[in-house]
Amino acid sequence: MNPEPIYLDHAATTPLAPEVLKAMLPFLQEEFGNAGSIHSKGQSAKNAIEKARRDVAEILWCEPEEIIFTSGGTESNNLALHGVLETLSPRPVLRNNGKRRSKNTHLIISEIEHPAILHAAENLKRNGIELTKISANKNGIISVEDVGKAIQPNTKLISLMLANNEIGTIQPIREIGKMIQKINQESKTKNQELFFHTDAVQAGGILNLDTRHLKVDLLSLSAHKFYGSKGTGILFVKKGVRLSPQILGGGQEHGLRAGTENVAGIVGCAKALKLAENSRKKEFTKLEKLRDYFVEKILAEIPRVRLNGDSKNRLPGNTNFSFFGIEGESILLRLDFEGIAASSGSACASGSLEPSHVLAALKIPHKWLHGSVRFTLGKSTTRENLDFTIRKLKKIVSDLRTLSPLE
Ligand SMILES: Cc1ncc(COP(=O)(O)O)c(C=O)c1O
Repeated sequence: MNPEPIYLDHAATTPLAPEVLKAMLPFLQEEFGNAGSIHSKGQSAKNAIEKARRDVAEILWCEPEEIIFTSGGTESNNLALHGVLETLSPRPVLRNNGKRRSKNTHLIISEIEHPAILHAAENLKRNGIELTKISANKNGIISVEDVGKAIQPNTKLISLMLANNEIGTIQPIREIGKMIQKINQESKTKNQELFFHTDAVQAGGILNLDTRHLKVDLLSLSAHKFYGSKGTGILFVKKGVRLSPQILGGGQEHGLRAGTENVAGIVGCAKALKLAENSRKKEFTKLEKLRDYFVEKILAEIPRVRLNGDSKNRLPGNTNFSFFGIEGESILLRLDFEGIAASSGSACASGSLEPSHVLAALKIPHKWLHGSVRFTLGKSTTRENLDFTIRKLKKIVSDLRTLSPLE
């Protein structure tokens, strides 16, 4: 067994950066005030939250008032989808028999979204929203043209992820944003008709989060994916987008997300995002080199293995392989025994033997579908870690194949 455990599951979560912990600690100890209190301890907490909001806004190129702190990516996504669609009243149209009926509001997502979008969208569908799920191509990329074709006169919201959590593919969000902007500009109505949300949870700290560049109206992030703490998220909501709050109570976060603020989490989230942004480009290049080295070696040294998702247009730390004829879970257990942490898909879906909905959407043949393993690299990953992992993986795959009924 490797003396030091090797963590290759950064898409599931990242360790808390020491600088982030240091920034958070005062708000868990002496500065424990409630940001809603008038006394100095309360005001100190409030000031820390507002500074965090300004810091995040600077990175997202938006106004501080456009930032809402939430409990994570799941809540941000739910708030975006339910929040936007609940404010829109259905448009009346005429039926064949002349009677008026409500034409449902239309939502577009993709088949490869995270469950936090898929399940929220399906819930909206149960409540009468018309839902279209567009497909990705076999490399896991969504086409701008397909999004354009799916837009109908009653489409109100499009939600597409910036980067996929399983295969890391990066979607053409800016190009889609441009198209949506054009549709809105050409629309005859005074008010914006069509809104665009991106789930940028996997892209946080890695890709450019400039919301003006991306041309999005809403954007979700989660601190634990960029070396912040679990349980803190961000939703960017562009000025002018009406949002119906999903959690009602004391009116915190401009009345859009009630509940006593997680001051330490918020302070840590802003600190983590700032740290990540400062080293983003350098880290991207480093990870990309390591990833390409890892992929090349695995494809060369292990027989009957394929890389899932586009080989270049993907997050720099993401790799996802399918090993023919064997179960991903068996590989994971053996890797874990060797001190290597990886994943067989999204963490939320692991533990189930259902094939990944993302790989299934890519129409990967059945015999490959169950043998998928995701290795996601991060700040601490070294070439030695990867060499050790490849050595162990070769042996594990070979052992499992001798036991496989498909051999
Ligand atoms: C793309 C994507 N969206 C949303 C989420 C959910 O974020 P959280 O864990 O903060 O609820 C995740 C988490 O894995 C994710 O990868």
